[in-house]
Amino acid sequence: MFFNQRKLKLIGFVVFCILLGFGFYEGFVNIENVSSFTMPRKQLRVNDHELYDKQVSNYEENEVNNVNNNNDVQDVKSRLHELEEKVHQMESKTDNRVPKIFPSVKFLNYKNRRRILVTGGAGFVGSHLVDRLMLEGHEVIVVDNFFTGRKRNVEHWVGHENFELVHHDIVRPVYLEVDEIYHLASPASPPHYMHNPVKTLKTNTIGTINMLGLAKRVGAKVLIASTSEIYGDPMEHPQSETYWGHVNPIGPRACYDEGKRVAETLSYAYMRQENIKVRVARIFNTFGPRMHMNDGRVVSNFILQALQNDSITIYGNGEQTRSFQYVSDLVDGLVTLMASNYTQPINIGNPVEHTIEEFAMIIKDLIGGTSKIIRLAAVEDDPQRRKPDISRAKKYLNWEPKVSLTEGLKKTIAYFVKELQRTKHLQKDMARIPFVNDHNIVDQL
Ligand SMILES: NC(=O)c1ccc[n+]([C@@H]2O[C@H](COP(=O)([O-])OP(=O)(O)OC[C@H]3O[C@@H](n4cnc5c(N)ncnc54)[C@H](O)[C@@H]3O)[C@@H](O)[C@H]2O)c1
Ligand SMILES: *[C@@H]1O[C@H](CO)[C@@H](O)[C@H](O)[C@H]1NC(C)=O
Ligand SMILES: *[C@@H]1O[C@H](CO)[C@@H](O)[C@H](O)[C@H]1NC(C)=O
Repeated sequence: MFFNQRKLKLIGFVVFCILLGFGFYEGFVNIENVSSFTMPRKQLRVNDHELYDKQVSNYEENEVNNVNNNNDVQDVKSRLHELEEKVHQMESKTDNRVPKIFPSVKFLNYKNRRRILVTGGAGFVGSHLVDRLMLEGHEVIVVDNFFTGRKRNVEHWVGHENFELVHHDIVRPVYLEVDEIYHLASPASPPHYMHNPVKTLKTNTIGTINMLGLAKRVGAKVLIASTSEIYGDPMEHPQSETYWGHVNPIGPRACYDEGKRVAETLSYAYMRQENIKVRVARIFNTFGPRMHMNDGRVVSNFILQALQNDSITIYGNGEQTRSFQYVSDLVDGLVTLMASNYTQPINIGNPVEHTIEEFAMIIKDLIGGTSKIIRLAAVEDDPQRRKPDISRAKKYLNWEPKVSLTEGLKKTIAYFVKELQRTKHLQKDMARIPFVNDHNIVDQL
């Protein structure tokens, strides 16, 4: 809302002041013989002196008739009284304002409490990770430049004694004392990372160097958020960590794919050369509340279309498959990986595959509404199947996804419903414009 409660109060107060000033001013210029209304001149502010002088001289020159003076005084007095009451009411409200209530966090003693930096902590994945670390009782510092992140994602922690939000771009060095670094800062979906490819590369290379350098200085452990995209257009199914990938180094996705590959290379160079403790998570497609609603991914597209009774659009025959993990599973994986002593890259994703058509049906069933599922021409460079081999995570982290697709979708849909309501005024028209899928850039991921 443009006018929140505090702003309204402020406006009310300003209006009150204007009226109050006007009341006194009227008292001066129109009322000659009413002593009860005179006020020592020195109480007026400088500008008022001038105004007063001018008005008084005008008044003396013109010799205006004073009719109904007493009525005016009564009128002004009662108005003042009314306004005074209002101010008292407002004051008492402000005094009784409920203090911000934080989710209750576990108490950790000095020995067990860690100071944790989360870069990109105001983003989709980062904010869920922050929630987890805060609830566990750690001190969390978020560094984010808000390129794709939002303050709203971590708003519920702002002001908490264990939490700090730093607006900073990690392409520039940052000096902090921390025990662990979760390095998540990077645009993550094609429209975001293609928006400024050079910046994407800088964030993943220079930004990563800055984080590894920080880890070296303070002896912190670093977890790098890598991606399944480092496998490129894979020749192997499912992809295991030993697969080296198949990436076009000069294609439109290269800024992200190669940026992340360099980030991995940097991590192991720092590990070998400087003895930095590194963890590398190769994250596969993830969904959940706080995901970006308009970045053209298949889950968000379908949910938005179904919620607005628009046609649910499938490109191609709908038989192509995708696998998605729910965000809480990913957070489990990241936290477990950080705590483990496993230093090789590790896939974190959900290997359960569904066809695009299944996604469309499941989402339509969950939402209801009147949407029809329609098929459009296939997308030319629609990615092949991408499915993680998670045997390494199972073996070394004892991790595997727990949240079912339906369960995750329900929570995500609830979030989308709330977001649509909240942004109704701003977004009603925007969101109704069907997402224009630029086939060369954005695939159904
Ligand atoms: N969501 C997925 O499906 C997925 C899949 C694979 C990998 N990942 C990786 O996980 C991480 C988080 O992804 P997400 O989905 O939460 O994306 P997101 O866009 O929601 O979050 C990224 C955050 O990084 C911040 N950021 C970007 N550039 C920055 C810079 N130069 N300095 C400081 N902050 C910067 C953004 O403002 C945002 O808050 C990314 O590194 C991404 O590559 C995500
Ligand atoms: C890693 O931790 C496991 C148990 O968590 C232990 O069995 C193993 O020896 C450790 N490996 C190294 C290299 O420290
Ligand atoms: C979609 O259709 C359903 C059922 O007809 C209706 O209840 C819902 O309000 C519609 N939603 C929108 C956004 O029009």
